[in-house]
Amino acid sequence: MRILLLGSGGREHAFAWKLTQSPLCESLFIAPGNPGTAKCGTNLPFSVTDFDAIKQTCIDKKIDLVIVGPEEPLVKGVTDFIISNPALRNIDVIGPGKNGAQLEGSKAFAKAFMMRHNIPTAAYKEFTLENYQEGVSYLKNHALPIVMKADGLAAGKGVVICENHLEAIAEFELMIQRAKFGEAGKRVVIEQFLQGVEMSVFVLMDGKNYVILPEAKDYKRIGEGDTGPNTGGMGAVSPVPFADKVLMKKIEEKVIKPTVDGLQKEGLEYRGFIFFGFMIVKDEPYMIEYNCRMGDPETEVVIPRLKNDLVELFAAVATQQLDKIKIETDPRTACTVVAVSGGYPGEYEKGHIINGLDDINPTDSMLFHMGTTEEKGKIVTSGGRVFCITSYGKSVFDAVEISKDELRKVSFTEMNYRTDIGYEFP
Ligand code: AMP
Ligand code: GLY
Repeated sequence: MRILLLGSGGREHAFAWKLTQSPLCESLFIAPGNPGTAKCGTNLPFSVTDFDAIKQTCIDKKIDLVIVGPEEPLVKGVTDFIISNPALRNIDVIGPGKNGAQLEGSKAFAKAFMMRHNIPTAAYKEFTLENYQEGVSYLKNHALPIVMKADGLAAGKGVVICENHLEAIAEFELMIQRAKFGEAGKRVVIEQFLQGVEMSVFVLMDGKNYVILPEAKDYKRIGEGDTGPNTGGMGAVSPVPFADKVLMKKIEEKVIKPTVDGLQKEGLEYRGFIFFGFMIVKDEPYMIEYNCRMGDPETEVVIPRLKNDLVELFAAVATQQLDKIKIETDPRTACTVVAVSGGYPGEYEKGHIINGLDDINPTDSMLFHMGTTEEKGKIVTSGGRVFCITSYGKSVFDAVEISKDELRKVSFTEMNYRTDIGYEFP
Protein backbone atom coordinates (compact mmCIF):
# COMPACT_ATOMS: atom_id res chain seq x y z
CA MET A 1 0.00 0.00 0.00
CA ARG A 2 1.19 3.52 -0.80
CA ILE A 3 0.49 5.82 2.12
CA LEU A 4 0.38 9.58 2.67
CA LEU A 5 0.46 10.63 6.34
CA LEU A 6 -0.45 14.24 7.16
CA GLY A 7 1.17 15.98 10.14
CA SER A 8 4.51 16.85 11.67
CA GLY A 9 4.43 16.01 15.36
CA GLY A 10 5.35 13.19 17.69
CA ARG A 11 2.02 11.53 16.92
CA GLU A 12 2.94 11.33 13.24
CA HIS A 13 6.46 10.10 14.02
CA ALA A 14 4.94 7.30 16.14
CA PHE A 15 2.50 6.42 13.33
CA ALA A 16 5.30 6.47 10.74
CA TRP A 17 7.54 4.28 12.95
CA LYS A 18 4.74 1.73 13.27
CA LEU A 19 3.58 1.86 9.63
CA THR A 20 7.06 1.04 8.32
CA GLN A 21 7.07 -2.15 10.40
CA SER A 22 4.24 -3.50 8.25
CA PRO A 23 5.04 -5.68 5.22
CA LEU A 24 1.94 -4.10 3.64
CA CYS A 25 3.55 -0.64 3.62
CA GLU A 26 5.03 -0.26 0.16
CA SER A 27 5.83 3.48 0.34
CA LEU A 28 5.30 6.09 3.00
CA PHE A 29 5.15 9.85 2.40
CA ILE A 30 4.72 12.33 5.23
CA ALA A 31 3.63 15.95 4.77
CA PRO A 32 5.22 18.00 6.08
CA GLY A 33 6.80 15.53 8.53
CA ASN A 34 9.87 16.16 10.72
CA PRO A 35 13.45 14.81 10.92
CA GLY A 36 12.10 11.74 12.75
CA THR A 37 9.56 10.82 10.08
CA ALA A 38 12.29 11.40 7.45
CA LYS A 39 13.91 8.22 8.76
CA CYS A 40 10.70 6.24 8.12
CA GLY A 41 9.67 7.56 4.70
CA THR A 42 9.83 10.58 2.41
CA ASN A 43 8.89 13.98 3.80
CA LEU A 44 7.06 16.32 1.43
CA PRO A 45 7.21 20.05 2.14
CA PHE A 46 3.59 21.18 2.17
CA SER A 47 1.13 22.06 4.89
CA VAL A 48 -1.62 19.73 6.13
CA THR A 49 -4.26 22.21 4.94
CA ASP A 50 -2.88 22.64 1.42
CA PHE A 51 -5.62 20.61 -0.26
CA ASP A 52 -4.31 21.20 -3.79
CA ALA A 53 -0.87 19.84 -2.86
CA ILE A 54 -2.54 16.85 -1.18
CA LYS A 55 -4.51 16.14 -4.34
CA GLN A 56 -1.46 16.46 -6.59
CA THR A 57 0.61 14.21 -4.34
CA CYS A 58 -2.13 11.57 -4.27
CA ILE A 59 -2.07 11.52 -8.06
CA ASP A 60 1.70 11.77 -8.58
CA LYS A 61 2.63 9.22 -5.94
CA LYS A 62 -0.31 6.88 -6.69
CA ILE A 63 -1.46 7.01 -3.06
CA ASP A 64 -3.91 4.34 -1.81
CA LEU A 65 -4.40 5.56 1.75
CA VAL A 66 -4.31 9.00 3.41
CA ILE A 67 -3.95 9.12 7.20
CA VAL A 68 -4.82 12.47 8.73
CA GLY A 69 -2.93 13.14 11.99
CA PRO A 70 -4.15 16.54 13.29
CA GLU A 71 -7.67 17.96 13.66
CA GLU A 72 -7.37 21.11 11.56
CA PRO A 73 -7.55 19.51 8.08
CA LEU A 74 -10.36 17.21 9.27
CA VAL A 75 -12.45 20.09 10.61
CA LYS A 76 -11.76 21.94 7.33
CA GLY A 77 -13.07 18.99 5.35
CA VAL A 78 -9.99 17.26 3.88
CA THR A 79 -11.73 13.88 3.94
CA ASP A 80 -14.79 15.13 2.03
CA PHE A 81 -12.42 16.88 -0.39
CA ILE A 82 -10.60 13.62 -1.16
CA ILE A 83 -13.54 11.24 -1.33
CA SER A 84 -15.69 13.53 -3.44
CA ASN A 85 -12.93 14.21 -5.98
CA PRO A 86 -13.31 12.02 -9.11
CA ALA A 87 -9.53 11.99 -9.65
CA LEU A 88 -9.02 10.55 -6.15
CA ARG A 89 -11.85 8.06 -6.21
CA ASN A 90 -9.98 4.95 -5.06
CA ILE A 91 -8.24 6.53 -2.11
CA ASP A 92 -9.21 5.61 1.44
CA VAL A 93 -8.93 8.16 4.23
CA ILE A 94 -8.38 7.62 7.95
CA GLY A 95 -10.19 10.54 9.55
CA PRO A 96 -13.86 11.60 9.56
CA GLY A 97 -15.53 14.02 7.18
CA LYS A 98 -16.33 17.58 8.21
CA ASN A 99 -19.63 16.56 9.83
CA GLY A 100 -18.10 13.87 12.04
CA ALA A 101 -15.15 16.12 12.89
CA GLN A 102 -17.66 18.51 14.49
CA LEU A 103 -17.32 16.29 17.55
CA GLU A 104 -14.04 18.15 18.08
CA GLY A 105 -14.62 21.23 15.94
CA SER A 106 -17.61 22.46 17.92
CA LYS A 107 -17.92 22.07 21.70
CA ALA A 108 -21.61 23.03 21.40
CA PHE A 109 -22.20 20.31 18.78
CA ALA A 110 -20.41 17.74 20.96
CA LYS A 111 -22.42 18.62 24.07
CA ALA A 112 -25.73 18.53 22.18
CA PHE A 113 -24.72 15.16 20.67
CA MET A 114 -23.97 13.77 24.14
CA MET A 115 -27.36 14.99 25.37
CA ARG A 116 -29.20 13.43 22.41
CA HIS A 117 -27.57 10.07 23.10
CA ASN A 118 -27.67 10.09 26.89
CA ILE A 119 -23.91 10.11 27.28
CA PRO A 120 -22.82 11.11 30.80
CA THR A 121 -21.23 14.57 30.80
CA ALA A 122 -21.19 17.79 32.87
CA ALA A 123 -24.42 19.85 32.89
CA TYR A 124 -24.12 22.87 30.60
CA LYS A 125 -25.73 25.79 28.79
CA GLU A 126 -24.76 27.45 25.54
CA PHE A 127 -24.59 31.22 24.94
CA THR A 128 -23.93 33.62 22.06
CA LEU A 129 -24.25 37.37 21.51
CA GLU A 130 -28.03 36.90 21.22
CA ASN A 131 -28.50 35.67 24.78
CA TYR A 132 -25.42 37.39 26.24
CA GLN A 133 -27.26 39.10 29.15
CA GLU A 134 -28.93 35.83 30.08
CA GLY A 135 -25.43 34.31 30.12
CA VAL A 136 -24.16 36.96 32.55
CA SER A 137 -27.09 36.24 34.92
CA TYR A 138 -26.48 32.50 34.55
CA LEU A 139 -22.81 32.99 35.46
CA LYS A 140 -23.66 35.11 38.53
CA ASN A 141 -25.61 32.21 40.02
CA HIS A 142 -23.29 29.41 38.89
CA ALA A 143 -21.45 27.22 41.41
CA LEU A 144 -17.66 27.73 41.52
CA PRO A 145 -15.35 26.98 39.83
CA ILE A 146 -16.92 27.64 36.43
CA VAL A 147 -15.76 25.93 33.24
CA MET A 148 -16.10 27.98 30.04
CA LYS A 149 -15.38 26.63 26.59
CA ALA A 150 -15.10 28.55 23.33
CA ASP A 151 -16.96 26.69 20.61
CA GLY A 152 -14.46 26.32 17.75
CA LEU A 153 -10.90 25.02 17.53
CA ALA A 154 -8.63 27.19 19.66
CA ALA A 155 -5.30 25.34 19.52
CA GLY A 156 -6.03 23.71 22.88
CA LYS A 157 -6.49 27.08 24.62
CA GLY A 158 -10.26 27.49 24.42
CA VAL A 159 -11.10 26.11 27.88
CA VAL A 160 -10.97 28.49 30.83
CA ILE A 161 -11.63 27.51 34.43
CA CYS A 162 -12.63 30.48 36.60
CA GLU A 163 -12.38 30.49 40.40
CA ASN A 164 -14.70 33.48 40.98
CA HIS A 165 -17.72 35.11 39.34
CA LEU A 166 -16.06 38.41 38.37
CA GLU A 167 -13.28 36.63 36.54
CA ALA A 168 -15.85 34.41 34.81
CA ILE A 169 -17.94 37.36 33.60
CA ALA A 170 -14.82 39.19 32.35
CA GLU A 171 -13.71 36.09 30.45
CA PHE A 172 -17.22 35.59 29.04
CA GLU A 173 -17.17 39.17 27.76
CA LEU A 174 -13.75 38.66 26.14
CA MET A 175 -14.97 35.52 24.38
CA ILE A 176 -18.32 36.80 23.14
CA GLN A 177 -17.91 40.57 22.76
CA ARG A 178 -14.23 40.65 21.76
CA ALA A 179 -13.90 37.32 19.97
CA LYS A 180 -10.89 36.29 22.11
CA PHE A 181 -10.92 32.85 20.46
CA GLY A 182 -12.06 34.01 17.03
CA GLU A 183 -15.49 34.11 15.40
CA ALA A 184 -16.42 30.50 16.27
CA GLY A 185 -15.43 31.18 19.88
CA LYS A 186 -18.24 33.75 20.15
CA ARG A 187 -20.41 30.77 21.01
CA VAL A 188 -19.60 29.68 24.56
CA VAL A 189 -20.43 26.56 26.55
CA ILE A 190 -20.64 27.11 30.30
CA GLU A 191 -20.45 23.87 32.22
CA GLN A 192 -20.37 22.33 35.63
CA PHE A 193 -16.90 21.66 37.07
CA LEU A 194 -16.21 17.96 37.55
CA GLN A 195 -13.80 16.90 40.28
CA GLY A 196 -12.09 13.65 39.48
CA VAL A 197 -9.22 12.01 37.63
CA GLU A 198 -8.70 12.29 33.89
CA MET A 199 -7.94 9.55 31.39
CA SER A 200 -8.39 8.98 27.67
CA VAL A 201 -9.68 6.12 25.58
CA PHE A 202 -9.13 5.73 21.84
CA VAL A 203 -11.38 4.00 19.39
CA LEU A 204 -10.86 3.28 15.72
CA MET A 205 -14.13 3.17 13.79
CA ASP A 206 -14.88 1.98 10.25
CA GLY A 207 -18.33 3.53 9.90
CA LYS A 208 -20.01 0.43 11.36
CA ASN A 209 -17.65 -1.41 13.70
CA TYR A 210 -15.05 -0.24 16.17
CA VAL A 211 -12.03 -1.47 18.13
CA ILE A 212 -10.76 -0.07 21.42
CA LEU A 213 -7.06 0.72 21.60
CA PRO A 214 -4.97 0.82 24.81
CA GLU A 215 -6.04 3.66 27.12
CA ALA A 216 -3.72 6.43 28.28
CA LYS A 217 -3.38 9.34 30.67
CA ASP A 218 -1.59 12.51 29.71
CA TYR A 219 -0.11 15.25 31.87
CA LYS A 220 -1.27 18.62 30.57
CA ARG A 221 0.16 21.14 33.04
CA ILE A 222 3.65 22.55 32.55
CA GLY A 223 4.70 22.24 36.21
CA GLU A 224 5.57 19.40 38.57
CA GLY A 225 2.59 18.07 40.52
CA ASP A 226 0.18 19.25 37.80
CA THR A 227 0.65 22.98 38.40
CA GLY A 228 0.86 26.01 36.10
CA PRO A 229 -0.68 26.58 32.68
CA ASN A 230 -1.95 23.91 30.31
CA THR A 231 0.26 22.62 27.51
CA GLY A 232 -0.35 20.22 24.63
CA GLY A 233 0.84 17.46 26.98
CA MET A 234 4.11 16.96 28.89
CA GLY A 235 4.01 13.18 29.08
CA ALA A 236 1.73 10.16 29.01
CA VAL A 237 1.36 6.70 30.45
CA SER A 238 -0.37 3.53 29.22
CA PRO A 239 -1.96 1.43 30.64
CA VAL A 240 -3.68 3.59 33.25
CA PRO A 241 -3.39 1.62 36.52
CA PHE A 242 -6.90 2.51 37.79
CA ALA A 243 -8.62 1.65 34.47
CA ASP A 244 -9.68 -1.85 35.49
CA LYS A 245 -12.12 -4.14 33.66
CA VAL A 246 -15.13 -2.75 35.56
CA LEU A 247 -14.34 0.86 34.59
CA MET A 248 -13.51 -0.04 30.98
CA LYS A 249 -16.82 -1.91 30.71
CA LYS A 250 -18.73 1.13 31.99
CA ILE A 251 -16.88 3.31 29.51
CA GLU A 252 -17.76 1.02 26.64
CA GLU A 253 -21.43 0.60 27.59
CA LYS A 254 -22.21 4.16 28.70
CA VAL A 255 -20.09 6.15 26.29
CA ILE A 256 -18.42 4.31 23.41
CA LYS A 257 -21.46 2.32 22.22
CA PRO A 258 -23.90 5.25 22.44
CA THR A 259 -21.38 7.42 20.55
CA VAL A 260 -20.86 4.89 17.75
CA ASP A 261 -24.63 4.22 17.52
CA GLY A 262 -25.35 7.96 17.63
CA LEU A 263 -22.99 8.68 14.75
CA GLN A 264 -24.67 6.02 12.65
CA LYS A 265 -28.21 7.07 13.57
CA GLU A 266 -27.42 10.66 12.63
CA GLY A 267 -25.92 9.59 9.33
CA LEU A 268 -22.44 10.81 10.22
CA GLU A 269 -20.12 8.58 8.20
CA TYR A 270 -17.14 8.18 10.55
CA ARG A 271 -14.00 6.31 9.55
CA GLY A 272 -11.15 7.19 11.82
CA PHE A 273 -10.09 7.68 15.40
CA ILE A 274 -12.33 8.92 18.17
CA PHE A 275 -10.48 10.21 21.23
CA PHE A 276 -12.67 10.16 24.35
CA GLY A 277 -11.44 12.48 27.11
CA PHE A 278 -12.88 11.44 30.49
CA MET A 279 -13.16 12.71 33.99
CA ILE A 280 -13.67 9.72 36.28
CA VAL A 281 -15.80 10.85 39.21
CA LYS A 282 -16.28 8.28 42.00
CA ASP A 283 -15.64 5.39 39.57
CA GLU A 284 -18.10 6.77 37.01
CA PRO A 285 -16.96 8.02 33.58
CA TYR A 286 -18.04 11.51 32.45
CA MET A 287 -17.16 12.76 29.00
CA ILE A 288 -15.18 15.99 28.92
CA GLU A 289 -14.40 16.11 25.25
CA TYR A 290 -14.22 14.29 21.96
CA ASN A 291 -11.33 14.66 19.55
CA CYS A 292 -11.55 13.42 15.98
CA ARG A 293 -7.94 12.18 15.94
CA MET A 294 -5.39 10.49 18.17
CA GLY A 295 -3.81 12.39 21.05
CA ASP A 296 -0.29 13.74 21.18
CA PRO A 297 1.66 12.57 23.27
CA GLU A 298 -0.82 9.74 23.94
CA THR A 299 -0.10 8.16 20.54
CA GLU A 300 3.55 7.85 21.57
CA VAL A 301 2.53 5.38 24.32
CA VAL A 302 -0.55 3.80 22.71
CA ILE A 303 1.09 2.87 19.39
CA PRO A 304 4.18 1.25 20.99
CA ARG A 305 1.80 -0.99 22.98
CA LEU A 306 -0.24 -2.00 19.93
CA LYS A 307 0.92 -5.35 18.60
CA ASN A 308 -1.36 -5.44 15.54
CA ASP A 309 -0.13 -4.48 12.11
CA LEU A 310 -1.28 -0.85 11.76
CA VAL A 311 -1.65 -1.01 7.97
CA GLU A 312 -3.84 -4.09 8.38
CA LEU A 313 -5.99 -2.16 10.86
CA PHE A 314 -6.39 0.77 8.47
CA ALA A 315 -7.16 -1.58 5.58
CA ALA A 316 -9.93 -3.08 7.74
CA VAL A 317 -11.32 0.43 8.27
CA ALA A 318 -11.40 0.93 4.50
CA THR A 319 -13.28 -2.36 3.91
CA GLN A 320 -15.45 -1.95 7.03
CA GLN A 321 -14.15 -5.19 8.52
CA LEU A 322 -12.89 -4.05 11.90
CA ASP A 323 -15.23 -6.65 13.42
CA LYS A 324 -12.75 -9.26 12.21
CA ILE A 325 -9.83 -7.68 14.06
CA LYS A 326 -8.77 -8.48 17.60
CA ILE A 327 -6.59 -5.87 19.24
CA GLU A 328 -3.40 -7.35 20.71
CA THR A 329 -1.68 -5.29 23.38
CA ASP A 330 1.86 -5.42 24.74
CA PRO A 331 1.48 -6.11 28.49
CA ARG A 332 4.39 -3.84 29.35
CA THR A 333 3.83 -0.29 30.54
CA ALA A 334 4.86 2.49 28.15
CA CYS A 335 5.55 6.02 29.39
CA THR A 336 6.71 9.05 27.53
CA VAL A 337 8.36 12.23 28.80
CA VAL A 338 8.30 15.36 26.62
CA ALA A 339 11.22 17.80 26.39
CA VAL A 340 10.01 21.37 25.77
CA SER A 341 11.58 24.74 24.94
CA GLY A 342 12.25 27.14 27.83
CA GLY A 343 9.27 29.49 28.22
CA TYR A 344 6.72 27.10 26.69
CA PRO A 345 3.65 27.23 26.78
CA GLY A 346 4.35 30.98 26.70
CA GLU A 347 6.90 32.53 24.34
CA TYR A 348 9.98 30.51 23.56
CA GLU A 349 13.00 30.59 21.29
CA LYS A 350 13.55 28.35 18.30
CA GLY A 351 16.64 27.24 16.42
CA HIS A 352 18.67 25.79 19.32
CA ILE A 353 20.91 22.87 18.37
CA ILE A 354 19.87 19.59 20.00
CA ASN A 355 22.80 17.45 21.14
CA GLY A 356 22.81 13.79 22.08
CA LEU A 357 19.82 12.49 20.10
CA ASP A 358 21.95 9.69 18.66
CA ASP A 359 22.98 8.48 22.11
CA ILE A 360 19.57 7.14 23.12
CA ASN A 361 19.71 3.44 23.92
CA PRO A 362 17.14 1.71 21.72
CA THR A 363 16.80 -1.38 23.96
CA ASP A 364 13.77 -0.16 25.92
CA SER A 365 13.38 3.40 24.64
CA MET A 366 12.46 5.25 21.49
CA LEU A 367 12.75 8.84 20.46
CA PHE A 368 9.88 10.66 18.75
CA HIS A 369 10.50 14.05 17.19
CA MET A 370 7.80 16.71 17.83
CA GLY A 371 9.05 20.24 17.12
CA THR A 372 12.41 19.80 15.42
CA THR A 373 13.82 20.66 12.05
CA GLU A 374 17.07 20.18 10.20
CA GLU A 375 19.31 23.18 9.54
CA LYS A 376 22.73 22.83 7.89
CA GLY A 377 22.89 19.16 8.79
CA LYS A 378 22.01 19.75 12.45
CA ILE A 379 18.74 19.00 14.26
CA VAL A 380 17.43 22.18 15.89
CA THR A 381 14.36 23.11 17.92
CA SER A 382 11.38 24.47 15.97
CA GLY A 383 8.46 24.16 18.39
CA GLY A 384 7.35 24.32 22.01
CA ARG A 385 7.27 20.59 22.45
CA VAL A 386 10.55 19.42 20.92
CA PHE A 387 10.76 15.63 21.31
CA CYS A 388 9.71 12.86 23.63
CA ILE A 389 11.25 9.63 24.81
CA THR A 390 8.99 6.65 25.30
CA SER A 391 10.20 3.67 27.32
CA TYR A 392 8.79 0.31 28.20
CA GLY A 393 8.94 -0.83 31.81
CA LYS A 394 7.49 -3.20 34.38
CA SER A 395 5.60 -0.31 35.99
CA VAL A 396 4.89 3.37 35.36
CA PHE A 397 7.70 4.31 37.74
CA ASP A 398 10.15 1.98 36.04
CA ALA A 399 9.31 3.17 32.51
CA VAL A 400 9.47 6.87 33.48
CA GLU A 401 12.86 6.37 35.17
CA ILE A 402 14.22 4.78 31.99
CA SER A 403 12.91 7.69 29.86
CA LYS A 404 14.47 10.22 32.24
CA ASP A 405 17.84 8.41 32.16
CA GLU A 406 17.76 8.66 28.35
CA LEU A 407 16.59 12.29 28.42
CA ARG A 408 19.65 13.27 30.47
CA LYS A 409 21.82 12.33 27.48
CA VAL A 410 20.13 15.00 25.35
CA SER A 411 20.49 18.76 25.71
CA PHE A 412 19.59 22.06 24.10
CA THR A 413 19.58 25.61 25.47
CA GLU A 414 16.82 25.99 28.09
CA MET A 415 15.50 22.44 27.66
CA ASN A 416 12.77 21.68 30.19
CA TYR A 417 10.81 18.55 31.10
CA ARG A 418 8.68 17.27 33.93
CA THR A 419 10.46 14.80 36.20
CA ASP A 420 7.23 13.58 37.82
CA ILE A 421 5.22 12.03 34.95
CA GLY A 422 3.16 9.19 36.44
CA TYR A 423 3.81 10.50 39.99
CA GLU A 424 0.49 9.19 41.33
CA PHE A 425 1.33 5.60 40.34
CA PRO A 426 4.45 4.76 42.43
P1 AMP B 1 -10.48 20.22 26.84
O1 AMP B 1 -9.79 21.19 25.92
O2 AMP B 1 -11.94 20.09 26.64
O3 AMP B 1 -9.71 18.94 26.95
O4 AMP B 1 -10.29 20.81 28.30
C1 AMP B 1 -9.01 21.08 28.81
C2 AMP B 1 -8.92 20.67 30.24
O5 AMP B 1 -9.87 21.41 31.02
C3 AMP B 1 -9.29 19.22 30.49
O6 AMP B 1 -8.23 18.36 30.25
C4 AMP B 1 -9.68 19.27 31.94
O7 AMP B 1 -8.53 19.24 32.76
C5 AMP B 1 -10.32 20.61 32.07
N1 AMP B 1 -11.80 20.50 32.00
C6 AMP B 1 -12.57 20.56 30.90
N2 AMP B 1 -13.88 20.42 31.22
C7 AMP B 1 -13.92 20.26 32.56
C8 AMP B 1 -14.98 20.08 33.50
N3 AMP B 1 -16.26 20.06 33.12
N4 AMP B 1 -14.64 19.95 34.81
C9 AMP B 1 -13.36 20.00 35.20
N5 AMP B 1 -12.33 20.18 34.38
C10 AMP B 1 -12.59 20.31 33.06
N1 GLY C 1 -2.72 15.50 24.55
C1 GLY C 1 -4.01 16.00 24.32
C2 GLY C 1 -4.44 16.07 22.92
O1 GLY C 1 -3.83 15.53 22.02
O2 GLY C 1 -5.48 16.67 22.69
